[in-house]
Amino acid sequence: MKPNVLLIEDNDATRFGFVRYFSKEGYEIIEAACLADAVATLAAERVDIIILDINLPDGNGIDFIDTARVNDSCIPIIVITGEGDIPLAVEAMKRGADNFLTKPVDNAALAVFMRKTLEIGVLKKQQSARKRLEKRDDIFIGESRSMQEIHELALAAAASDIPVLITGETGTGKGMLARWIHQQSARAANECVELNCSGLRGEMLSREIFGNIRGAFTSADQDRKGLIDVADRGTLFLDEIGDMSIDVQAQFLKVLEEKCYRRLGDVKLLKSNFRLICATHHDITSLVKSGQFRQDLMYRINMLTLHLPPLRERMKDLPALVAFLLKSLGSSDAVLSDDVMGILLGYSWPGNIRELRNVLERALLLNPHGTTLRPAHFSSLSSLTHHHVQAPASHQRTVQEVEKDHIKSVLDQVGGNIELAAKRLNLSRATLYRRLKQEQ
Ligand SMILES: Nc1ncnc2c1ncn2[C@@H]1O[C@H](COP(=O)(O)OP(=O)(O)OP(=O)(O)O)[C@@H](O)[C@H]1O
Ligand SMILES: [Mg+2]
Repeated sequence: MKPNVLLIEDNDATRFGFVRYFSKEGYEIIEAACLADAVATLAAERVDIIILDINLPDGNGIDFIDTARVNDSCIPIIVITGEGDIPLAVEAMKRGADNFLTKPVDNAALAVFMRKTLEIGVLKKQQSARKRLEKRDDIFIGESRSMQEIHELALAAAASDIPVLITGETGTGKGMLARWIHQQSARAANECVELNCSGLRGEMLSREIFGNIRGAFTSADQDRKGLIDVADRGTLFLDEIGDMSIDVQAQFLKVLEEKCYRRLGDVKLLKSNFRLICATHHDITSLVKSGQFRQDLMYRINMLTLHLPPLRERMKDLPALVAFLLKSLGSSDAVLSDDVMGILLGYSWPGNIRELRNVLERALLLNPHGTTLRPAHFSSLSSLTHHHVQAPASHQRTVQEVEKDHIKSVLDQVGGNIELAAKRLNLSRATLYRRLKQEQ
């Protein structure tokens, strides 16, 4: 793919000369004659390098450096200053420009500068991705067979570019696994763009995914990149894809089939090289059966399906998971009394790993000085579990019943405040509402 150069220069003749020379050098040039055009271009297009004149009709080019860096902290910027404007060039370098040249510009010298600056830009990007990797949240896998299989599949997914669908109950780690696959993949230096499809309906969702041009609808006062565009060379992570409305599904399927797309209101076909990861807590095949999800789209997105088991089905992993989570909470020296482990093993964990992490975090808060965590620090759980263990054998409580009781007890504790209860359960409000509805 040709590197895209954003040339910000108000002199028509200079721009013309630049375009003629650098098109032959293998660059794609996007011209901007003023800062306003440059800002609009940055919002709308992929830009790999910026050539920036200082004196522009609507302002000082130096101020544009900050704007460009907000958009992409590693974007290479070369500043062109007038002869005798060395103090301005120094100022530009201080503000984060990579290089400067004085007018009249020798195109051959600029070509060398551009190549070098682009190479350094790539290195900087890789370095910042490496840093991001170093501070990434580590992920727990465990010894259970189901998780070992997932680990192998996830590594295979990371080594390839095929679409992956991650399924599993709430809190099982779908989001974490999606980000992990991206971080392990060759695309790690680029963005992993996330979008939760359950929050936005119809056209709002299409706007986010596809972007729009100015005037596409009443409130569209400028061109906007879609997330497909931002995910170019990276990963597009569509969370809760099962909640994508049917009309958006049709549009999105077209993107996957034709490998190109249009912004809303635009006729121009655009291309984006993104890798797709989707997640859902729904059983996608039953959504297909009930007509809520297109079968052809399902086939496209689930080339590889990773199903994360609920925590209650991998209790073997619980002790190691607890140790892992305590460490990630900064309390690797905390110890659990034996009866606490009994309580944790006897509970059904409807909120899965998220709930476990939450429960441990609360216990640590209740025990700021001691190191041994005791049943008293898990009071909300222990009453539930006790009840569970004591239940007569003739009535084994179902997971749904345990979950229902737990939600009810948390709701009681917070006086019915949904927002607070959702926070305590570490569920989104939408998920909590869904659970409550299921119980009716
Ligand atoms: N494998 C794991 N290792 C460590 N922590 C985990 C793991 N999986 C989940 N967690 C913890 O649980 C929390 C919830 O995980 P995540 O958001 O990925 O779940 P989810 O399946 O996407 O849930 P939802 O369906 O509600 O969106 C994380 O913030 C993290 O604290
Ligand atoms: Mg999630």
